[in-house]
Amino acid sequence: MKKLNKITILKGDGIGPEIVDQAIQVLDAISEKYGHDFAYDERLIGAIAIDETGNPLPDDTIASCQSADAILLGAIGDPKYDNDPNAVVRPEQGLLKLRKELGLFANIRPVRIFENLKHLSVLKPEVLRDVDMVIYRELTVGIYFGDKEKAADQASDVCHYHRFEIERICRLAFEEARRRDRKRLCLIDKANVLDTSRLWREVVQRMSKEFVDVTVDYLFIDNAAMQMILNPSQFDVIVTSNMFGDIISDEASVLGGSIGLLPSSSAGESARLYEPVHGSYPQAAGKDIANPMATILSVEMMMRDFGMVEEADDIKHAVTTCIDNNQLTIDLIKKNPISCSQLGDTIASLVTSDSRVDYGILI
Ligand code: IPM
Ligand code: MG
Repeated sequence: MKKLNKITILKGDGIGPEIVDQAIQVLDAISEKYGHDFAYDERLIGAIAIDETGNPLPDDTIASCQSADAILLGAIGDPKYDNDPNAVVRPEQGLLKLRKELGLFANIRPVRIFENLKHLSVLKPEVLRDVDMVIYRELTVGIYFGDKEKAADQASDVCHYHRFEIERICRLAFEEARRRDRKRLCLIDKANVLDTSRLWREVVQRMSKEFVDVTVDYLFIDNAAMQMILNPSQFDVIVTSNMFGDIISDEASVLGGSIGLLPSSSAGESARLYEPVHGSYPQAAGKDIANPMATILSVEMMMRDFGMVEEADDIKHAVTTCIDNNQLTIDLIKKNPISCSQLGDTIASLVTSDSRVDYGILI
C-alpha cells in the first residue's frame, strides 16, 4: 500500500478555511503520535481562486493534486454567484473540473447515525434504528457533464453514459457490498423512463452474476426518495448516477440530525479526494461556529484508505467521545456550544492522549 506523505490542501470558500484548519490539527496530532510525516501543499480553488487569479481551478492546483497522495477539500461556493444565472465563471466549475481532470468517478458517502444525536433528527428514533448505509455516486459523467446549450428561450443538458463508465463504479459498489455484513446493493435509477437508466440496469444485472453473494435491489429514484424517509434502514450500499446521487445523498444526510457530520471520499484514477458533504455555509464564515466534524471524519476515511486503522479508530473514537460528552458546535446543541476551533482542539488532544480510558478526564 502507498504511504501517505503529500496532502494537497484546498480550503476553498466560506467556512472551508476554518474547518480544514481543524482537520489539519487532527492530522498533526496523528502524525506526532504515530511518527508519520505529512507534508501539506495548500492551493486555491473556488470563489477565492477566482478573486485571486480569475480561474476557479488554477493550473498549479491541478498539478499539485496530480502529484499528491491525498487531497483534502473544505467547501466551495459564494452567494454572489448563486443569484447570477449569467455569471460565466463560477466557483463550482473548479470542483467539477477537478473531479473530471483527476478522473474521480466514484463519490463515496457513508451515512452513520450517532446514538447521542438521534434526538436531533426530524425522523423518529425507531425509524433510525440500524441505519448504516453508504452511497456510491457516479461523479464525472451524466447530466452534469453532457453537452449543454443555452439560447435566449431554450436550454438543454444531455445525460449520456458509456457502458464502461457505469461498469467501473458499479464494480466498486459491488465490492463494497461484498465486504459488508448485509451484502446488499440497491441501484437507484429511473429505468421506467430513461434509456441511460436502462443501461445501468443491464450492467448491474450482468455484474450480479459475478457477485452471487450480493443481493441486488432496484428502486426508481422517486420511490427511493420516499423509502429514504419511510424506512432508511433497508439500505446497505446504494449505487446511482451523478444527479440522482447528488439529490439522494443530501436527503440521506438529514437522517443523522445534521449534514455537518457527513464525510465523503472520491475515488478513481488518481489520488483520492476527501471532503465534507456540506457546502460553504457563507453565513457562518469567519465566525468560528461551523462544525468541523464532517471534515475530520473525512480524514478518518483517508486514514482507513491508507491502512492506518489505529489512526482512523482514534479519530472515530475522539469524535464519538465529544458527541457523548456534549462537546458540540451550535448546529448540534443550543446550550453551551463550543466553537469550531475549540472542538478541533478537543478532538486533536483526544487523539494525542495515549489511553482511551483517560478521555472522560480530558473533557
Ligand atoms: C456536491 C455538491 C456539488 C455537486 C456542487 C457544489 C457542484 O452539491 O458535491 O454534492 O452538485 O456535485
Ligand atoms: Mg450536492
